[in-house]
Amino acid sequence: MKSVKVGLLGLGTVGQGVATILARNGDEIARRAGCDIVIKSALVRNLGKAEALGFDGIAVTQDGKAVVTDPDIDIVVEMMGGDEPALSLVLSAIEHGKHVVTANKALIAVHGNQIFSAAADKGVVVAFEPAVAGGIPVIKAVREGLAANRIAWLAGIINGTGNFILTEMTQKGRDFADVLAEAQALGYAEADPTFDVEGIDAAHKLTILASIAFGIPLQFDAVYTEGISKVTRDDVAFAEELGYRIKHLGVAKMRDDGVELRVHPTLIPASRLIANVNGVMNAVLVQGDAVGPTMYYGPGAGSEPTGSSVVADIVDIVRTLSAAPGHRVPNLAFQSDSLSSHPALAPDAFESSYYLRLTAIDQPGVLADITRVMGELDISIEAIVQKEPVGDSVEVPVIMLTRQVREGAVNSAIAQIEKLASVKGEVTRIRMETLG
Ligand code: HSE
Repeated sequence: MKSVKVGLLGLGTVGQGVATILARNGDEIARRAGCDIVIKSALVRNLGKAEALGFDGIAVTQDGKAVVTDPDIDIVVEMMGGDEPALSLVLSAIEHGKHVVTANKALIAVHGNQIFSAAADKGVVVAFEPAVAGGIPVIKAVREGLAANRIAWLAGIINGTGNFILTEMTQKGRDFADVLAEAQALGYAEADPTFDVEGIDAAHKLTILASIAFGIPLQFDAVYTEGISKVTRDDVAFAEELGYRIKHLGVAKMRDDGVELRVHPTLIPASRLIANVNGVMNAVLVQGDAVGPTMYYGPGAGSEPTGSSVVADIVDIVRTLSAAPGHRVPNLAFQSDSLSSHPALAPDAFESSYYLRLTAIDQPGVLADITRVMGELDISIEAIVQKEPVGDSVEVPVIMLTRQVREGAVNSAIAQIEKLASVKGEVTRIRMETLG
């Protein structure tokens, strides 16, 4: 049985997961792939540290170029993250006829169109299952398993670190910084954890999911992105009282006039399955017209879970090595000359329900002022709650839930409400999705 040789770019959390899985399950994986898969070399930052990991037979090097140009290597696996040198090394690997697996969602979301075009010219495969939702085979599920469907929308918890932080804060009352430090120690967080906390990592993944769901080009810049750093314990508690959970969601919706691409904290009815996805777990809910709703759940980050997706992509490539490039699964699910130019919508055109929280002076007429603003803008209020003042305070929290409305109208309402003399400070706005 001929073996396939793999070169790794990176031997960190995910790289070690890949090497461990191949060492432990190599025989079983070979039976699936039809040949042995051997890691020949790995680009590492620190030679001493890498050698101390004790992976037999992997030559460690600090020369990435040597890995991607090695004539003996068939598949290059990129797990470095970020733009450069990852982009140059991947393009060089393609140029040298290597197939590529990447766990780098930023690379695919931002440079995917360029990379796929280079790969098509050379007739090589670029696979990226580990880039989205860690160990969940969601790319394969949407791209291949749902190929019969028109997808109306998808919504996912697609950042494990963010979900871990929100879960620990809400269930155990833990401090934000403390939980983030634990997520970093567990290898969940990005090298720059603001990517997790401010929603950028989720926006990268949503970009990829939206492309394979709707057949649109990758357009990371069009994703509206809001992180979890402004979610307060009060909002979490008020949401619970009203029967909702706050989750950080990536949402992509196909509409006649365009596509909504957005990442933000979201109130979801507590009874929904996805509202109960906790810790580092991810879940992606997809609404297809033929199948109805399907949900994909599993670990969204971590060494072996993400390594599992890397190895699955390697096996897929090995299995298709004998297939002509034109007969392989298209990178973005749709044939590259059939991508749609359906536009991405501006945030003012988004349609959603909203949770609004504000601080008002406890005096007659306040609620009337607020509801007048909402009524004039044709915003239907689903629920309104004024909490008791605490102690001698004259200020009270007011919470409103709206029915579905255009975001532009809500932005106008917020601007007008913030100007009312009886309202103090800013209005907190969190989007709400029933996901029904
Ligand atoms: N930082 C990412 C997360 C890693 O927490 O989801 C997996 O992509």
